[in-house]
Amino acid sequence: MDPEKIHHLGLRMISSGVFRAPQISVPRTVFGVSFPNPIGLAAGFDKDGLCINQWRNLGFGFAEIGTVTRHAQLGNPKPRLFRLPDQKAVINRFGFNNQGADALAQRLESANPVIPLGINLGKSKITPLENAHFDYAYSFKALHRFGDYFVVNVSSPNTEGLRSLQDKDSLTQIFSEMKAVNSNKPLFVKIAPDLEHEAIDEVIQVAVDMQLTGIIATNTTIDRSMLRSDPGETGGLSGLPLKNKAVEVQKYLRANMPTDMTLIGVGGIMTPQDAVERLDSGANLIQVYSGWVYHGPSFAADICKVLRNRMLTHPS
Ligand SMILES: Cc1cc2nc3c(=O)[nH]c(=O)nc-3n(C[C@H](O)[C@H](O)[C@H](O)COP(=O)(O)O)c2cc1C
Repeated sequence: MDPEKIHHLGLRMISSGVFRAPQISVPRTVFGVSFPNPIGLAAGFDKDGLCINQWRNLGFGFAEIGTVTRHAQLGNPKPRLFRLPDQKAVINRFGFNNQGADALAQRLESANPVIPLGINLGKSKITPLENAHFDYAYSFKALHRFGDYFVVNVSSPNTEGLRSLQDKDSLTQIFSEMKAVNSNKPLFVKIAPDLEHEAIDEVIQVAVDMQLTGIIATNTTIDRSMLRSDPGETGGLSGLPLKNKAVEVQKYLRANMPTDMTLIGVGGIMTPQDAVERLDSGANLIQVYSGWVYHGPSFAADICKVLRNRMLTHPS
């Protein structure tokens, strides 16, 4: 079956409430927000917030919806989602297909997520790069009441030029425009795993200067060098082949960003052991996407079981 059809079928089944997983309490408070456990659903799975009320029932401690853009858009032509099961990887070039920020705001009016909700914002395809900051600010204005934190996604490889917005001036302009809308909401920037250390240093500098709450690392990669066999599809690669890169970026960030800044680790977390390692190496929270797709609906709960057992055997 076509992977995108499976994805939509999965979303329909989740929103109807047929999947359940135990909610295991491994609480932590990060940036002043209480999380029932530190495992989140990564952005891109529930772009339009179709399953907002269900993520808690699947054992997640928080969920990030989006990427949402100012304008509704169809995304790239199909096929645009590819599974590489023998390498535990996914390639996607969706290109931010979503119903737009206003439609999401309307849906959120009547939602009750119960767990903390992140909202991930992107640039619409039709908006020129030099006007990107207006797009982010528009969506933030429409949605700021509904999110516990907001993410500026400048790291998807599937919108032309988007990753160039990771430079210091562009990021500063985007966050200045958003802070003018609301200066109280926790703000994050989500970065690519393909940045050189100097570019990561620049992002950290902007995060400090703009008083961001934290950094999410990482998005998908355009690198294919870690694939055993490359299907030749363009787009962002995620899952097991991304793991080492994401770990390296996370460690660099933790060593170089202020200790009181929040780090959300994502990329290649395929087993509960991977999750434990990522939290132990300095992530305050983690997120899963490909690992969840391959492991199945109990993944967040299975990670929490391991974390809970560790807490019981090594109480801090
Ligand atoms: C099909 C698919 C769609 C995605 N869409 C988005 C998106 O809209 N916005 C975003 O910030 N990240 C998106 N991502 C990236 C994930 O949130 C995550 O950063 C990345 O997949 C690495 O984690 P993983 O190895 O656990 O999958 C997407 C990933 C996949 C596989």
